[in-house]
Amino acid sequence: MKHFLTLKDFTKEEIFDIVELSRNIKKKFKDGICENLLQNKTLAMIFEKSSTRTRVSFEAGIYQLGGIGLFLSNRDLQLGRGEEVRDTARVISSMVDMVMMRTASHTHLMEFADYSAVPVINGLSDLYHPTQILADYLTMIECHKDKNPIVAYIGDGNNMAHSWLMLASKMGFELRLATPRGYEPNMMIYEDALNFAEESGAKIILMSDPKDAVSGADVVATDTWTSMGYEEEKQQRLKDFKGFCVDTALFSLAKEDAIFLHCLPAYRGQEVSDRVLECERSAVFLEAENRLHIQKGIMVWLVQKRN
Ligand code: CP
Ligand code: NVA
Repeated sequence: MKHFLTLKDFTKEEIFDIVELSRNIKKKFKDGICENLLQNKTLAMIFEKSSTRTRVSFEAGIYQLGGIGLFLSNRDLQLGRGEEVRDTARVISSMVDMVMMRTASHTHLMEFADYSAVPVINGLSDLYHPTQILADYLTMIECHKDKNPIVAYIGDGNNMAHSWLMLASKMGFELRLATPRGYEPNMMIYEDALNFAEESGAKIILMSDPKDAVSGADVVATDTWTSMGYEEEKQQRLKDFKGFCVDTALFSLAKEDAIFLHCLPAYRGQEVSDRVLECERSAVFLEAENRLHIQKGIMVWLVQKRN
């Protein structure tokens, strides 16, 4: 049974398939057609962390396709009081058709998947945010930035940086990842990306100067400097990330028609300036909307795979 925990487990063809499926579902949705592709299906949505986009897109997404989503906060589940992950996985997966989990620990997510009788989707872990990166890829396609693009990711070597490493190395494009020293991505994930890049022809470059990374880029992406769970480091991070704000001066080094991406939530004046976030070439709200269509594509693909 296939889970959706990281793009590491997916081939280039499978990634294309899911994105194409999502594009078709989106097109029909925009034409007012909503097929019951997930009729009577139930999705359990476990949230150990806050969410706006992930929760709404999964819940609205499954409802629009004829199914139902159950919002399960860690504060209410026995999981939050110490019930074991493996017990929770066996119980919940005996009652639903799919599980989406947002957790602080990718290890917990893998354990959950090991014990689950149904497909598990990673709705963000400390290591990856795969549903987000597919929405980013769909946005790149819609903005005509998917043919041999140069992508510059500026900021923290976090779950989004890791997700960009997986996307670029699987799809075969150039990724320049600029982080302050001490905030580089996980080296094991970087090594994985280099291995995938050998096959796909991707170019993966780690940098410490955001200007070098953005120069001539087609896509400039960033994320918060303080991810959920790192709040205690916020003041230190504000100092360490100085010079890494995607502001007008930095963005102007990219190609004239470059787009700006951010998974949101954004912190204006920190990782991105208000002007860049609000400018014409900022695709962040299209990117956020695309979460809805991508979640549908992922869920339908997983269900079809099981049949
Ligand atoms: N980008 C994203 O996952 O947003 P939420 O945290 O609001 O779900
Ligand atoms: N890197 C951020 C992404 C939020 C959607 C976090 O993990 O908090």
